[in-house]
Amino acid sequence: MIGRLAGIASRSLFVFDPEIAHNLSITALKTGISPVCPPKPDPRLTQTVAGIRFENPVGLAAGYDKNAEVPDTLLKLGFGHVEVGTLTPKPQVGNDKPRLFRLVEDRAVINRFGFNNQGHDAVFARLSARGDSKGIVGINIGANKDSADRIADYVLGIRRFYSLATYFTVNISSPNTPGLRDLQARESLAALLSAVLAARNEEADRAGKRLPVFLKIAPDLTEEGLDDVAAEALAHELDGLIVSNTTLSREGLKDQVQAKQAGGMSGAPLFAKSTAVLARMRKRVGPHLPIIGVGGVGSAENAAEKIRAGADLVQVYSCMVYEGPALPGNINRGLSKLLDHDGVASIRDLRDTRVDYWAAQPL
Ligand code: FNR
Repeated sequence: MIGRLAGIASRSLFVFDPEIAHNLSITALKTGISPVCPPKPDPRLTQTVAGIRFENPVGLAAGYDKNAEVPDTLLKLGFGHVEVGTLTPKPQVGNDKPRLFRLVEDRAVINRFGFNNQGHDAVFARLSARGDSKGIVGINIGANKDSADRIADYVLGIRRFYSLATYFTVNISSPNTPGLRDLQARESLAALLSAVLAARNEEADRAGKRLPVFLKIAPDLTEEGLDDVAAEALAHELDGLIVSNTTLSREGLKDQVQAKQAGGMSGAPLFAKSTAVLARMRKRVGPHLPIIGVGGVGSAENAAEKIRAGADLVQVYSCMVYEGPALPGNINRGLSKLLDHDGVASIRDLRDTRVDYWAAQPL
C-alpha cells in the first residue's frame, strides 16, 4: 500500500519538467524518511563480490545522487549498494537546460547532463559528515570537461575519496563529455588503468585496506573494442566491470520526437543491447572477474536475466523514474520468489546460465 502510494507520488512528478522532478525527489529523500518499507533481508540474495559483502544484488546506478546528498535514505529503500557521482575534481554546471527528457511510451530517458556536479571538495565534506554509516557507497569518478590531463583527474578522485568509498568506479563511458569515450581505446585505457591502479595500490598500503576499482563501459563498443577492454582489464588486474552506461543508439524507440534529442538513452530499450554486451564481456574475461549489469532493469525478471547473462550484481536508474521508490524492494522480493519457485539455493546459482544465448544476440 505504502509502496503503491509512493509510486503514485513519483508518477505525479511527471507534471514537472524532468530535471525539476528529479531535484524534488532528492529534496523529499533529504527528510531522511524512507517512503517505502524495505524488504526483509534474504540470505539467499547475499554475496561477496570483489571482497565486499552485498546484502542483495540490486544497486542504484550513478547519476541519480550525483552529489551524495541522500545515500543513506536510498539504502533504506532496499538498495544493496548506492553509487554516487560522477564526481569531477572541480565543480561543473554541465550542459544548458533542458538536458533531461522522458520517453514515457518507451519507458526510456535521454540525458545530456555533461557531468554537472559540485566537485570533490563539497562532496568530500558531505560524505565525511556521514560518519561511520555501514551501507555500501561506491564513488564514481570522472574528469572535468576542460581538464588538460584527464587521467590526472581520475587519480585525484581515488586519492581524495580513499577514506570514504567502499569501491570506486572509473567512468569513461559518458557520451556527454566530448572525447571522454576515447579513453576506452586500447593505449589510452592502458595508461589510465596503470595510473589509477598505481594510485589505488599506494593508498591501499597507506590505509591498510584495498578498495576495489571497477571500470564502467559504454554499450556502443565494437567487438574489437570489447576485445581491447577485456584484455586491458585482465592485464591490469582490474577488480571488475560495470556494463553499461547509456547508449547513443535510438533503435526501437516509438517516440520519434524526443528520440531526436542529443545525449545518452537509457531505460527499457537499453536492456537487450546492454545485456548482449555484458554476456560478450563475461565470455571474454572468464568466470572470476566481477561484472555489474546495468541497463533497462525494471523488474525481478530483468535482474535475474542480467545475472543469467553473466552479472554478479545489477544496478537500476531509469526504470525507477517510472516505477517509483518501491522498485528496489519489489525487485528483491521478486528475486526471492523466483528462487522459491525454481528451488534455487542462492542467487549466485543463476549466474552464467544464459551467457551463450545473450552473447549471440546482435549488438
Ligand atoms: C546517468 N548515468 C550516469 N552514469 C555515470 O556513470 N555517471 C553519471 O553521472 C550518470 N548520470 C546519469 C544521469 C541520468 C539522468 C541517467 C538516466 C543516467 C548512467 C546510469 O548510471 C546507467 O548506466 C544507465 O542509465 C543505464 O541504466 P538504466 O538507467 O537503464 O537503468
